[in-house]
Parts: sequence; structure tokens; C-alpha cells
Amino acid sequence: MRLDKFLVDCGVGSRTEVKQVLKQKKIQVNGKVETSAKVHIDPDTDQVTYLGEKLLHEEFVYYLLNKPKGVISATEDDHHQTVLDLLDDTARHKEVFPVGRLDIDTHGLLLLTNNGKLAHAMLSPKKHVDKLYRAQVAGIMTQEDVDRFKEGIVLKDFTTLPAELEILEVDQEANSCLVQIRIAEGKFHQVKRMVAACGKEVTDLERISMGPLNLNPSLELGEWRRLTVEEIGLLTDFRVNL
Ligand code: URA
Repeated sequence: MRLDKFLVDCGVGSRTEVKQVLKQKKIQVNGKVETSAKVHIDPDTDQVTYLGEKLLHEEFVYYLLNKPKGVISATEDDHHQTVLDLLDDTARHKEVFPVGRLDIDTHGLLLLTNNGKLAHAMLSPKKHVDKLYRAQVAGIMTQEDVDRFKEGIVLKDFTTLPAELEILEVDQEANSCLVQIRIAEGKFHQVKRMVAACGKEVTDLERISMGPLNLNPSLELGEWRRLTVEEIGLLTDFRVNL
């Protein structure tokens, strides 16, 4: 592998920054200063250090973000803050991107990675990766709505796969309810459209899980964490089994 790719993978900087770091003689390979970006190294056997610190090679990174409202699920945008703006420099150097989208006014779990194959598997319409949402709804959802969700809801352009609707709390006075919705697809505005098809309106939407990943309550809005080794293992198994 080229040394510059290795250094980018290790989070030292972007390709351009890494070139500078090399010029500044901050990198050593097997105890000798190396200044060429093009030189090839073996990540398994060569020892590479940055300012004396041994670098561990990590090609793929995985971030779980609790996306706040008002932030868009994109890597760049001229008008709005993006989810990438909320992560660290490593995420930007390693060019992570969101695995699917949440609407600008939806909050909750968003996975970001630079592992394209995994993202592709998780997003493939054929794979039916479950997503769990909690929605505050204007209007009161009923057993009839639960049954409609179970059958699949006919929308203008497609019929959804069977979905689960669980009514968690009902506030008769306010004419509103809190529900949990599990869907196996991720079409544009899908949850809002399914609820609208039942004559009610989503007023707040939070995603709380996606496949084997769960949003932990301790992760505040706008905060992120790297996936644990166990979670990465689950995702990898998951991809293999998809
Ligand atoms: N369904 C929606 O309507 N919006 C989202 O952001 C996610 C699912």
C-alpha cells in the first residue's frame, strides 16, 4: 500500500496534509525518516511512526451520530450545517458519508462510514434492514391503523412492506399520541407518509435503531461515538448474512 494512503487511513490528515507531514520529516518507516508519499509499505509488517507514535492501520471507520434537527444528511451543503460538520477531522479525512438519510427535521441514529460495501448492503432495497422510529403524532392512531401497517400501506407511488405500529401513549385531551414504528425500507419521507395515509401527522420523528445498532440514551443530540469492536463485528456478520 502507498504510504500516503496508509497515513490517510490512520487519520494523520488528508492526502494534501499528509504530503506536508512527510515533507516536514515527521514520519518514520522502520526507524528511518521517509518523505516520499509514493513509497509502498506493508501495513502488517512495517512499523510506521508519526512524531514517534506508532500508527495502527484502520481502513474503515464507523461513526454513530445522534443527529439533531436542522442538520442535513449530506457531506456538503452551501446553506445548512451537515452531519459531517459535527464529526471530527478523522471522519473528514477518511471521507465518511451517511448510510441513508434522515430528513432535516428528523433526529436520532445515523450511521456514517467510509465502508462503501457495507453501506451498499445496508441500503439495498432487497435487504430489508429494519429501522425503528419513535414518532409524536397529531391525532390518535388506532387499532385499525396498526392493522393497516401490518398489511402494508398503499402510498401514491408504491405499497410499503408490512410494518409494525405500536401505540405507546395516548393523550386524548391534546389529541395526540406517541408511537413506535418499525419499517424494513427507507423510502423518501416514508414514516411521515405512512402516518399521513392514516389521516394523522408526524410532529416529531426520532430514529432509535437501524439493523443491529441502537441509539444509547446517554448520547446527546449532536454527539457521536465510534462503533465498538462488537458492533462492527455485528455489522460485518450482518452484511455477510444479508
Ligand atoms: N421517514 C421519514 O418520514 N423521515 C425520515 O427522516 C426517516 C424516515
